[in-house]
Amino acid sequence: MSELNNIAIKILEKGKGILAADESTGTMTKRLEDVNVTSTPENRLLFRETLFSSSSMTECIGGVILYDETIKQKSSKKNMIPELISKMGSYPGIKVDTGAKVLSGSPDEKITEGLDGLRERLKEYYQLGAKFTKWRGVYNISKNFPSKLSVHANANALARYSALVQECNMVPIVEPEVLMDGDHSADECYQKTSEVIKKCFEELILHKVDLKGIILKPNMILAGNKSNDKVSSEEVAKLTLKCLKNSVPSEVPGIAFLSGGQSEIEATENLNLINKYNNTNFIMSYSYGRALQQSALKFWSKDIQNIEGTQKVFNHRAKMNTLAAQGKWSKDLEI
Ligand code: G3H
Repeated sequence: MSELNNIAIKILEKGKGILAADESTGTMTKRLEDVNVTSTPENRLLFRETLFSSSSMTECIGGVILYDETIKQKSSKKNMIPELISKMGSYPGIKVDTGAKVLSGSPDEKITEGLDGLRERLKEYYQLGAKFTKWRGVYNISKNFPSKLSVHANANALARYSALVQECNMVPIVEPEVLMDGDHSADECYQKTSEVIKKCFEELILHKVDLKGIILKPNMILAGNKSNDKVSSEEVAKLTLKCLKNSVPSEVPGIAFLSGGQSEIEATENLNLINKYNNTNFIMSYSYGRALQQSALKFWSKDIQNIEGTQKVFNHRAKMNTLAAQGKWSKDLEI
């Protein structure tokens, strides 16, 4: 087994998943201001350190995606943050794209940037202890979108990124996110997501990326958030599995879904059913941002020194998702 394949599996084995704590300073500021906490480097670190030192880090969280600011910060006990995460038994990772910008040639769509100077930045992150990385491509759904240009350009960037990351001995998380925004049906989401994922693998193969050493981070197949198409969790699970079975090469060891604006319970319930019906060889787990942190952030904002209480809330959410990643969750376990 290659080293990268080994890391990818270790991050996701036994129901473990990924904590996506890689909000940029702008996004994190919005999240903190929404709960009336001032966004300072100290407060951002305090919340994140509270999560990174909770007991579920050992039992449930196989990897944490960090943002550039956090990977360079020291914990209150003066450990570097990646060191704290490793000590808890989890793998530190890092978001390396520099954000989605207007796509020239199709200005209503986005292209993710960050390839310039990436090889050098990767070396620095590796030295800081990162074992895996993340790059997110974003796609809108509408009648004409995603365009062929956006599907091609984002897949190409994801593949170039992945090849550079593997060259630097880290596992790339490949995240093509087809957004939930809009009034599209689940069937449209299925069609467009399949097209996007297939194109990503075409480019990954062209760039000679070792598919055994990546983690795919896709969206689930959902109806748009303004759609009248009411889709049950069973249907979400079945459509998601059908899409991935038909578009992901079998060498890929693991798939870790993003939550993409689903509520905490929705994201857990859908993951649980995906695992109940999983008829593939892929590990199917989670790489949630909002769906892992929302309740903990709300609780913490009421008293930012209440570390233990916040950890309890976070541990519960992590545990629920780890059960869901094994198809063992049920609603009555929620408190
Ligand atoms: O890139 C997106 C994040 O890593 C996942 O965030 O679960 O809130 O969609 P989310």
